[in-house]
Amino acid sequence: MVTGVFLVFEGLDGSGKTLQALKLADWVFSTYKRVDHVLVTREPTHSKFGLELRQRLAQKSDDPTTSKERFQELFTLDREEHVDSVIAPALAKGTIVIGDRYKHSTIAYQSAQGMSTQRIMDDNAGFPVPALTLIFNLPVDVAVSRLEKSGRPAELFEKKDFLEKVKALYAKMPQLLPKEKIALINANQSIEQVHADVINAVKPLIDA
Ligand code: TYD
Repeated sequence: MVTGVFLVFEGLDGSGKTLQALKLADWVFSTYKRVDHVLVTREPTHSKFGLELRQRLAQKSDDPTTSKERFQELFTLDREEHVDSVIAPALAKGTIVIGDRYKHSTIAYQSAQGMSTQRIMDDNAGFPVPALTLIFNLPVDVAVSRLEKSGRPAELFEKKDFLEKVKALYAKMPQLLPKEKIALINANQSIEQVHADVINAVKPLIDA
């Protein structure tokens, strides 16, 4: 059976992971003439669960722990639909799939909201395991100042104290998921340097 390569990009809001996911897709296309499909796909999606999530994320609340049970439930339902309708079929066709956020976001953000980390991991245990997860790591101050400069309205979780908790949970990810391949990428460098580090990390998997 053909199976594709599943890569996941994770990190704080403002870590630059979305830009890096797009740059990687571009690089794969220009480097590997044999590759016909690269899929960049993100969560939350635009499923009915994703739409409710986006409304909740945009709400004006000072309390990032609000509605934590509902958030956990919605992110997991949204992922289930994303895996079934997009990720799994693409992998079965041999596509390189680059996921912009996946279960590690739920583990980090919803644990930071106060949900049980073990319960989140159990709820997400049945989903495809990425060949490699890259966690884009940078100081919270840098992430927050990038978000401020972007000029878009701040979402529920984009608060310094909360993001510090999320960052600490991302740092624990290799211990939380010891059977999975997880690499930390220093996202506090130039766009081109981060891109070079991403290529170094993923090239062996694509070449394999
Ligand atoms: P984000 O990647 O910022 O999406 P967009 O750029 O389209 O706004 O994700 C939105 C927020 O949702 C972000 O603060 C992280 C959060 N999130 C979770 O809390 N849990 C999850 O499982 C996922 C996928 C995202």
